[in-house]
Amino acid sequence: MSAPTHATAVATSNIALVKYWGKRDEALNLPTTGSISVTLDALTTRTTVAFDPALPADDIALDGHPAGTPRMARFLDLVRDLAGVRTYARVQSRNDFPTGAGLASSASGFAALALACDAALGLGLDAPALSALARRGSGSAARSLLGGFAEMQPGSAADGHDAYAVALAPPDALPLVMLIAVTAAGPKAVGSTEGMRRTETTSPYHPAWVESTRRDLGRMRDAIAARDLEQVGHLAETNALRMHANMLAAEPALFYWNAATVAAIQTVHALRAAGTGAWITIDAGPQVKVICAPIDAATVEKALRAGPGVEQVLSARPGPGARLVEGTA
Ligand code: PMV
Repeated sequence: MSAPTHATAVATSNIALVKYWGKRDEALNLPTTGSISVTLDALTTRTTVAFDPALPADDIALDGHPAGTPRMARFLDLVRDLAGVRTYARVQSRNDFPTGAGLASSASGFAALALACDAALGLGLDAPALSALARRGSGSAARSLLGGFAEMQPGSAADGHDAYAVALAPPDALPLVMLIAVTAAGPKAVGSTEGMRRTETTSPYHPAWVESTRRDLGRMRDAIAARDLEQVGHLAETNALRMHANMLAAEPALFYWNAATVAAIQTVHALRAAGTGAWITIDAGPQVKVICAPIDAATVEKALRAGPGVEQVLSARPGPGARLVEGTA
């Protein structure tokens, strides 16, 4: 293996406007449908990877704690296979947001890890291959490689080489603010892999979800191209609620909301009834993400903060994709 053998990458979280919920291949993380997201300028992971021949095993630290997840270890095996090397790696990864708060960190985490591994090993992957690699860590990570608005293509190949994200529009194409109301954490949520499997195998609504999501993709693409925030918000909220209807129809039901989640949804609906453009989206957890125009952000944030059970409200805008940086994590 030739130098350089270490690299540092940063990546931010993304929020899906048309959700990914279902896999056509679980081992390869191949989605059943496409998805569309906006990459944020906040919720950042910074990851340093160093491949070191002196290491007897991978040495992974998350937020300073020696706690490599099995998924990260499997990802490093995958990267080694790709590079044809056997060298172990030291990985330091830090999130600038509270990890225990139930905010998804796998999207920014695996996007940063994929980019840092590519650079450290000199793999020279192109953008589609890099996105497909990040997908192996977490489906949503494939989208965080790209800035602004991105679309994950489900692909049709059995090996997944055509399942990667592409750019739809740059961060400034559609000015918006994403407010994230962090609600009181309930019992640990069912993870996305188990949740998707359960939904696919037990929800009678799943075929309808797949069909309506495929329709939503075209509509969302058009709404982003038309810079139509109202339509983007409307489609995002409808799509997210349909995903949760599908989750609720699983057996046993996947119920990701708590009382504060419901209160935050009602707050947003009340704002909208009073004339403020604001729309919700919710992932596999109790946090409520609210989309609005920058001019309305202060009003919406204040209303969310006043809601019962809201611990904090984070604010983000569309941001750049993953990138290599100097220094270490
Ligand atoms: O990337 P995963 O395996 O964490 O799945 C993401 C699932 C959702 O966040 C609910 C939807 C999405 O498209 O991000």
